[in-house]
Amino acid sequence: MMASLRLGLSSAAVLFLLLPLLLPVAPAVRADDEHICSEPSGPQVQLPREWHLWKQEHGKTYSSFKTELERHIVWQANQQYIDTHNRYNSSFGYTLAMNRLGDLTEAEYQKQYGCIDHADNGSSPFVFYYSPVSEDASNLPTSVDWHTKAAVSPVKDQGDCCASYAFSAVGTLEGMEALANGYLTTFSEQNIIDCSGPYGNHGCSKGAVDRAFEYVIEQGINTDTVYPFRGARKRCHYKSSKPGVTLRSYQWIRKGRETDLQSAVAMEGPISAAIDASHNTFRFYASGVYDQPTCSSNKVNHAVLVAGYGTDEQGKDYWSVKNSWGVLWGEDGYIRMSRNQNNQCGIASRAIFPAL
Ligand SMILES: *[C@@H]1O[C@H](CO)[C@@H](O)[C@H](O)[C@H]1NC(C)=O
Ligand SMILES: *[C@@H]1O[C@H](CO)[C@@H](O)[C@H](O)[C@H]1NC(C)=O
Repeated sequence: MMASLRLGLSSAAVLFLLLPLLLPVAPAVRADDEHICSEPSGPQVQLPREWHLWKQEHGKTYSSFKTELERHIVWQANQQYIDTHNRYNSSFGYTLAMNRLGDLTEAEYQKQYGCIDHADNGSSPFVFYYSPVSEDASNLPTSVDWHTKAAVSPVKDQGDCCASYAFSAVGTLEGMEALANGYLTTFSEQNIIDCSGPYGNHGCSKGAVDRAFEYVIEQGINTDTVYPFRGARKRCHYKSSKPGVTLRSYQWIRKGRETDLQSAVAMEGPISAAIDASHNTFRFYASGVYDQPTCSSNKVNHAVLVAGYGTDEQGKDYWSVKNSWGVLWGEDGYIRMSRNQNNQCGIASRAIFPAL
């Protein structure tokens, strides 16, 4: 009896969760959607049902009702921004959606999700520059997708751990290893988070992909199975008896050259890149070819994996980019970013890959 009642309630909840997905351009909040929600920690205040569903969906709790109200105001402003953008989505060429980052201001988002810092100064003995097979893009394949060639692991989720550098480094390592050996193994971000401190990384508070490679070259890396993700920096317990892969060196793409990046993606495999992800449009990206002309080519703050490239039906060139924010973000965890638009968002500014 109790069980069937609970079941009934939860399928109703699921339906409400799905509704905004099915109707992404529905008006944000209608007056008759307002509900009185009893809050154990505060007085009864009318907050929209959407807010409570969103909180529930993302497991959000707040320390006090005042804090919740403040977060609600931020969330509402973000929802409005998303709705307005989506009203003009065909002009922008891409669509946004509310997600778990929706209760942060843009400044808070930039602070919490800008997870790479700048390390490379050319002094490492392991560093080389990639020579493209051609300087002329017309000699390269018009599209590549490593995702469909079993060279990219399923999308991972960094959660609140600011370690996109580790996910990006591991992503290109996994790709190169899969292409070299014919089977896909997933490697351990947690290993890098816990153990690459002596190489200048800061666990779940920023780091750099090249420093992760320096660590793997000198120490090694375990697989995800041997060394699973924990989401916070822990004591290093790398098992040298179970090395996952051996790395010899790494190569940088010459700064800002998208044709070099195209050559590397086509000829070598999935490539690590750093981008300017600081805009709200990136935070709430849902689908389409991302195009943010005010994006910086120099101030990159987030590491990702370039898993392919192509041209959409409208003739827009894009990079197929794997993020580490779970599958609910973007196009199943991926974003298509503008290609051949003057190195937009710095996609080719700090691109790098390992040599096994
Ligand atoms: C704009 O939104 C509509 C409705 O959700 C959708 O069908 C369309 O594909 C979107 N266009 C772009 C370019 O994202
Ligand atoms: C380069 O980086 C290394 C390690 O981060 C540091 O020890 C060294 O002083 C740097 N060299 C220069 C010229 O900045």
